[in-house]
Amino acid sequence: MRARADWHKSFFRNSFYNPASGEALRRAAAEAAFIMRRLKLKKGASLLDLCCGPGRHAVEFAKKGLAVTGYDYSGEYLREAAARAKKARVALRLARGDMRELKFSGEFDAAVNLFTSFGYFLKFSDDLRTLKGVARALKPGGLFLIELVNAEYVRKSFRPRWWEDMGDHFLLTGSELTADGAHDTWIRLPKKGGPARTRTFFCRLYDRKRLSGALARAGLKPLKFWSGYGGAPPREKHSRLICLAVKG
Ligand SMILES: C[S@@+](CC[C@H](N)C(=O)[O-])C[C@H]1O[C@@H](n2cnc3c(N)ncnc32)[C@H](O)[C@@H]1O
Repeated sequence: MRARADWHKSFFRNSFYNPASGEALRRAAAEAAFIMRRLKLKKGASLLDLCCGPGRHAVEFAKKGLAVTGYDYSGEYLREAAARAKKARVALRLARGDMRELKFSGEFDAAVNLFTSFGYFLKFSDDLRTLKGVARALKPGGLFLIELVNAEYVRKSFRPRWWEDMGDHFLLTGSELTADGAHDTWIRLPKKGGPARTRTFFCRLYDRKRLSGALARAGLKPLKFWSGYGGAPPREKHSRLICLAVKG
C-alpha cells in the first residue's frame, strides 16, 4: 500500500502512536546527553528541536540550561510537551506548524531533528524546503544534528512484513520499497480487544551520500557522521545514521 501525501496528519495521534513511550522515552536522557556533547553549547544557547513531538528530548535540553524551542505539527504532542516541561519545572517555547513552513530567521545557535522526523514527503523538493528553513533559522556558523534511519541498513535487511510485541498491543508492519523510500503500513492490534487501526506512512531513505547532497543544497555542510548514539562510525549494518552539519 502507498502512503497519501498528507499521511502525517492522521498518523501522529496518541490513539495510534506516541514516540515518547516505552524504550524510546527511557533512552531520551542519554540521547540528549550525546547530542549536548557534540553540539558543545553553552548555557542559555538557543536550540530548535524541529519535530519535537511530545518533547522527550526538548525537556532534557532545557534541564541542561538551553533556551529550547520545540516545533511540531501535532497539537496533541505539543500539549504533552508542555505538560512534561511543567512537571520538570523547565521553560519550553513551543510552536505549531509544518516543518516545510519554518519562519525563523538567524535566531538559533543549533537545531536538531531526531528519531527519523525527516523524509516524510512524497516530493523531494519538500525535504529540501525543510532543510532550507533550518539553514535560515540558524545563526551563521550554527549547527544542525539530524538522526534518522540508515537507508543502507533498510535496503539490506528488507523484510516485506513482520510483527512486534509492543506491550499493550501487537504491531504488524508491511513494507514496500521504492527507489526513493519505504511505504510502511502499520496495523495496531490491541491485546485487550477493540478495533485494529491501520495507517500507512512514507519515509524517503537517506544514506550518507544522499543526506550530504541534500544538506549541501540547503547551505548546510556535513562535518561528521555516526552510526547512532553509541558514537561509532557509520556502517551498513547499523540501523541509525546521525549527521552533524554546520551552516555556511
Ligand atoms: C517519529 S516522531 C519523533 C518525535 C520526536 N522528535 C521524538 O524523538 O520523540 C515524528 C514527529 O514529526 C512530527 N511531524 C510529522 N510531520 C510533520 C510536519 N509536516 N511538520 C512538522 N512536524 C511534523 C510528528 O508530529 C512527530 O512529532
